[in-house]
Amino acid sequence: MNKFKADFPILSQPGLVYMDSAAMSLRPQSVLEALMKYYTIYGTNVRRGINHLAERSSQEYDQARDKVAKFINCKPSSVIFTRSTTSGINAIAQSWGAKFLQPGDEIIISIAEHHANFLPWQILAQRSGAKLQIVGINQEFQYNLTQFQQLLNDRTKLIALSSGSNVLGTSFDLTKIMALAQAVGVPVLIDAAQTAPYARMDLQNMGCDFLVFSGHKMLAPEGVGVLYIAPKWLDQLDPWEYGGGMVSQISKNDQSKSIWLSAPEKFEAGTMPIGAAIGLGAAVDYYNSKIDWLKLRQHLACLCQKFIVGMQDLPQIKIIGNQVQLASSGHLVSFTVAGVHAHDVAAYLDQFGICVRAGHHCAKPLHEYLGLTASVRVSFHVYNTSEEVDLLIEKLNQLVKNGL
Ligand SMILES: Cc1ncc(COP(=O)(O)O)c(C=O)c1O
Repeated sequence: MNKFKADFPILSQPGLVYMDSAAMSLRPQSVLEALMKYYTIYGTNVRRGINHLAERSSQEYDQARDKVAKFINCKPSSVIFTRSTTSGINAIAQSWGAKFLQPGDEIIISIAEHHANFLPWQILAQRSGAKLQIVGINQEFQYNLTQFQQLLNDRTKLIALSSGSNVLGTSFDLTKIMALAQAVGVPVLIDAAQTAPYARMDLQNMGCDFLVFSGHKMLAPEGVGVLYIAPKWLDQLDPWEYGGGMVSQISKNDQSKSIWLSAPEKFEAGTMPIGAAIGLGAAVDYYNSKIDWLKLRQHLACLCQKFIVGMQDLPQIKIIGNQVQLASSGHLVSFTVAGVHAHDVAAYLDQFGICVRAGHHCAKPLHEYLGLTASVRVSFHVYNTSEEVDLLIEKLNQLVKNGL
């Protein structure tokens, strides 16, 4: 029995095998309790009210930001709460794009991006007359560095890459890309949606300008994400939303006389996802008190390895990605089953209580690049067990042998 399972009330449902954490992780009791406390004891708006409930909400909301900042090793002013990874990327595309992108400029992304880190740049490029450059992946399923170096030139104004793919299941080594970008002073945005839940981040050492991730993939509620903005950009960027709680002076007749509050308030107009942010703070507490990062990574990699080994004798099942890396540091495995559509595989596994993901996982360009239309994805978190992988292997063996 996995010692973490009991912390996740949803898993008390008999026979439930949840293998879709890369889409959305489950929440431990402590996160649910933090939410319940917020909604039943003090849940009111922040920063606005002069009453004890509003003060408590403000305190807890600020504390959640402090916890996240400590968790990723940056200043609280660099932690902007958003709705999700998607909204963080769109915010930068909108704010940075409007101010710094000119016709003829170039943005580099990769073929492996989730649509969330693809479409905002494609649309920005189309609207501004800039060009989107797309770097491929090599045989090791890492970014193609030779091609990246060819694409990087003095028209490159931004690099937006993920630190881990939601299809390939392994982390991308960004060391050389960061060094090349820094050498020519090109800002880098990192989509860390698939790495933040599984590996400690140290923003002091990463050297990126922007980084985004979602609470709901790391044991927190949906509705809250984090956008890290490096200190040097906090004053340079304009807000992407305007409204209450972000302005210190406003002029009735002349917008240019408006004075924004400093970050993070400047970038958090209107009522924010207060409860969800407090829930994210509780998820950070859970990571800090219960999870050893090294053991988590080893546990996830062991599950991936077990699954890969279990599929070895089934030529009908084709695993996508770098199997050696998956077995040593993966957290998810995507695959296809010859002759059976991914959706049918997922529906088949669901009959046995096994929840997996099927489709293009919002990474259609990558699927096309790999010559696929869809795949099945199993993804793990701290609560998954070796016995669950045994069951998955058994059911896939039966599927291959007996058909649907
Ligand atoms: C790599 C990656 N980027 C971005 C996203 C989008 O995240 P969200 O839907 O939380 O905005 C996802 C979600 O699966 C993802 O895996």
